[in-house]
Amino acid sequence: MEDIIKKQIDREMVIISNERLADQVYRMCLDGDTSLITAPGQFINIKVPGFYLRRPISISDYDDEGVTIIYKVVGNGTDVLSRMQPGEKLMCLMGLGNGFDVNACGEHTLIVGGGVGTPPMYGMAKALLALGKRVTVVLGFNSKSDVFYEEEFKELSRLLSGIELDVRVSTVDGSWGTKGFVTDCLKGLDDVTDYCACGPIPMLKALYNHFNGKILGQLSFEERMGCGFGACVGCSINTKSGFKKVCKDGPIFWSQDVIF
Ligand SMILES: Cc1cc2nc3c(=O)[nH]c(=O)nc-3n(C[C@H](O)[C@H](O)[C@H](O)COP(=O)(O)OP(=O)(O)OC[C@H]3O[C@@H](n4cnc5c(N)ncnc54)[C@H](O)[C@@H]3O)c2cc1C
Ligand code: FES
Repeated sequence: MEDIIKKQIDREMVIISNERLADQVYRMCLDGDTSLITAPGQFINIKVPGFYLRRPISISDYDDEGVTIIYKVVGNGTDVLSRMQPGEKLMCLMGLGNGFDVNACGEHTLIVGGGVGTPPMYGMAKALLALGKRVTVVLGFNSKSDVFYEEEFKELSRLLSGIELDVRVSTVDGSWGTKGFVTDCLKGLDDVTDYCACGPIPMLKALYNHFNGKILGQLSFEERMGCGFGACVGCSINTKSGFKKVCKDGPIFWSQDVIF
């Protein structure tokens, strides 16, 4: 497996910061070569010290100097990541995955992030706002203590368009924003031309059902991965053209192609 990885582009990245954002959620900024990143929604595959299998994490933001990732501590690998300090180094396979197709978006794109599906949606919103497109953001979390990046999305639009972005938040327990799910925050959005989303599969399915196939969606599946480069079937999803691998063919799929 390491031979295959060596053929891919492994980059040494230096941790610049690693800070807590919300309950068990951390933001890490990494300096290093980002020349392989071509689109929002791509991911990096991180060699966490002490673990054989890499951990895939979406790119939330990037520039010429480095990347920002946001991750939730769910197991041993992300726990080790959360304890790493500025100055420490991580080997990362860079710019993996197809990314969102910015050019396929219409005049008013709905951006939806569910929990730790939120990070790649920040980069996508940034790309669309930079093109002068209209964006509405809906973020869904379980509870107030899980909420992150509501302000960052608003700040992004103030910087890029000078306009206050419509950012709606739902929490399952109603402790912040609208009580319920992201689909409870969609009132008055009848002029939305398309949607881009990342989050748990039930959320992606609920969005697809809400729009009833009438508008095009780009859905990012952060399925659990094994090898991360197409050699196992640990990440397969069912589509109209057969089973596809999230790591190799995705992670983003057109809504009308997915079989839920
Ligand atoms: C393309 C892609 C992009 C991703 N982007 C992000 C991101 O931006 N931020 C983020 O926090 N996470 C992201 N993930 C999920 C992240 O890769 C896993 O949470 C991480 O690998 C878990 O490693 P661990 O060693 O801490 O947990 P493990 O010990 O491997 O697992 C601990 C628990 O977490 C569950 N788990 C592991 N991976 C996933 C997963 N992908 N989805 C749901 N449950 C999982 C396991 O079933 C287990 O219950 C992404 C996954 C993919 C495939
Ligand atoms: S993780 Fe092995 S094929 Fe996708």
